[in-house]
Amino acid sequence: MTVSPDRVRRHPSTTALAEAAAGQIEALAAEAAARTGRFSIAFAGGSTPRELYNQLAKRNRCNWARWWVALGDERVVGSDHPESNTAMLRSTLLDRVGVPPDQRFLPPVDEGLSHAEIADRYDRSIRTLLAESNRAFDLVLLGLGADGHIASLFPGDTPCLNEGRRSVCAAQAPPDASVRERITLTYPVLLNARTVIFLVAGAGKRAVITELLAGGGSRTAYPASRFVPNSRAYWYLDSQAAAGLPTPV
Ligand code: 6PG
Repeated sequence: MTVSPDRVRRHPSTTALAEAAAGQIEALAAEAAARTGRFSIAFAGGSTPRELYNQLAKRNRCNWARWWVALGDERVVGSDHPESNTAMLRSTLLDRVGVPPDQRFLPPVDEGLSHAEIADRYDRSIRTLLAESNRAFDLVLLGLGADGHIASLFPGDTPCLNEGRRSVCAAQAPPDASVRERITLTYPVLLNARTVIFLVAGAGKRAVITELLAGGGSRTAYPASRFVPNSRAYWYLDSQAAAGLPTPV
């Protein structure tokens, strides 16, 4: 295994995965708030995190007034669109808990801006958040695509993959993506997070997880490979995604 086994958290179901991840996030949030007065988090998009966000809202064990929240990436669609990560995050968590409005740093997708203008505006917004949060997110949540993408950093999107200065850039998803225009946090922000939690579920992710966490050099083509190894990353996997990994001793 290319990552320490104690950083790979296998769970029999997505419900068990969500409950375990919620417990670690609650603990991280309480520790950060006690240490600095706030907890800054960049949420993952896609479908896997939905159950986790519902769990966090249902358990309601956090001091939400201490949370500063952002999205790791977004599709360039309105925030009421079925493909919107903002819509998903609001319905599963933000509309159910008391994170103060001025502590919610969400992409400006409803202001009639162009793709590039949304990225520029969100870049400034994230820089403001990070400047007030000791220059790094306390926690970044990430999903994983079957092609090894993270956030909206996709294989082949060289300008975004090589972005070393901006916090947010305008990205392009592959032609088969339902929404190609994206914005995404960049590697400098993602890699600088104090803790990263990957949430990966389903048989469709088995091959990429096996190559990333137990494979040879072939993983380097995956954007996620920049996190292998990484001393601050945890991998929450359901049994289907983890099925190709060596059995833990
Ligand atoms: C997005 C995501 C993306 C997602 C992966 C996994 O906007 O789609 O941020 O990086 O995390 O594609 O998606 P699933 O959880 O739906 O498999």
